Amino acid sequence: MDKFHIVGPTRLVGRVKPSGAKNAALPALAASLLLDGEKLTLHRMPRVRDIRTMMRLLEHLGVGCEDTGGALVLHRDRPNPDHDAPYDMVKTMRASVLVLGPLLARFGHARVSLPGGCAIGVRPIDQHLKGLEALGANVQLTHGYVEATADRLRGARFRFDMPTVTGTENLLLAASLAKGTTVLENCAREPEVVDLGNLLNAMGARISGAGEETIEIEGVDGLGGAEHAIIPDRIEGGTYLIGAALTRGDVTLEQASPADLAPLLDKLAEVGAKVDVDGTDIRVRAEGNLNACDLETLPHPGFPTDLQAQYMTLMTSADGVSMIRETIFENRFQHAPELMRMGADVRVDGGSARILGPRHLTGAAVMATDLRASACLVLAGVAAEGETVVDRIYHLERGYEGMELKLQSLGARVARWVV
Ligand code: EPU
Repeated sequence: MDKFHIVGPTRLVGRVKPSGAKNAALPALAASLLLDGEKLTLHRMPRVRDIRTMMRLLEHLGVGCEDTGGALVLHRDRPNPDHDAPYDMVKTMRASVLVLGPLLARFGHARVSLPGGCAIGVRPIDQHLKGLEALGANVQLTHGYVEATADRLRGARFRFDMPTVTGTENLLLAASLAKGTTVLENCAREPEVVDLGNLLNAMGARISGAGEETIEIEGVDGLGGAEHAIIPDRIEGGTYLIGAALTRGDVTLEQASPADLAPLLDKLAEVGAKVDVDGTDIRVRAEGNLNACDLETLPHPGFPTDLQAQYMTLMTSADGVSMIRETIFENRFQHAPELMRMGADVRVDGGSARILGPRHLTGAAVMATDLRASACLVLAGVAAEGETVVDRIYHLERGYEGMELKLQSLGARVARWVV
């Protein structure tokens, strides 16, 4: 298992470009299952492990994937009558569940392993299943698999109990080919949902309202090919901007989408960092003392849970007490004990964490537990004095493309140890 070896402290200074958003690219790939005969060309695909896992699953399901270097070209290759997503694939990546809606809508049948819990929480998929049932699917749970069938899905009105990102995406994918109009209420409003809506519309779907609480989908009989560029990754980009504030550095994120990062940019300004937006460039710099500010994670347009761990690292360097409340996932503070090994003062109590700063972080051997927790430990290593070794960086590789290279270009002393 590879590790990151980091020698700190260093100020992050320079310009960096985000890759395409992993969480927009995954549903875009799943949309290829809806293709009739033409090709889907996707630009700005992040070269990360979750994307490779999804490509393997799609190949298993009969989609041909050709990587041209600049883009990924997908087309229906050979039929796979099983329409199944096996446990071995789903267990390594929960987003595999995104094939459920399109398989059902396109072939009338899907068999997808139940994902089970994961490091950050229980993460049920009951809303995906209830939504598909509302569209007329027959859903059975047997032997750890969801087996769903439908002759043709029918448009319906469905209200999610809570906003769910992949749940909304699964329903968008399915309802695009349903007969009649579907109205989805209490939808997730994340930019990744909007990106999927735009892609499906380019393929011939009739979706309006993606990015709002209510989305209307007028079903069509078939979807064709399209060419689409995935949106920039706001979570990856946000991680480097938090790194700029944490190390009292000066980083410009190029070709970003500032509107998608507004919740973070507002918070960084409140903390005392200087934030400048110029078109698609976002510059964050900081010096001296920063303010401790409370934070609550919320569905978009609230502060994203995927930047909570990185924000905690930032708060270890701010003056005073900050409280972080995690409201999306029940077990997303596993980075706290690792940060404490580096000298942070963090007390976790259920869904809340209390951080007392500023603390002088010192390098240590730490263990990554999930994707975003890994990123927070890498940032801590860059800011800390001395050597930090982050173990299990395979978590990081699921969602950050070339992180060590991007950090090196900003001046960090990060090396990959191949073990
Ligand atoms: N929920 C249910 N039932 C459902 C679906 C969700 O109870 O059927 C609950 C979840 O347990 C959670 C809340 O609803 O408490 C929101 O979860 P959501 O469904 O929105 O999460 P997700 O779609 O599984 C996506 C991202 C996550 C990100 C969350 C929240 C993808 C592939 N994953 O997950 O990304 O944290 O939305 O924004 O889009 C990551 O990239 O590191 C990551 C975990």
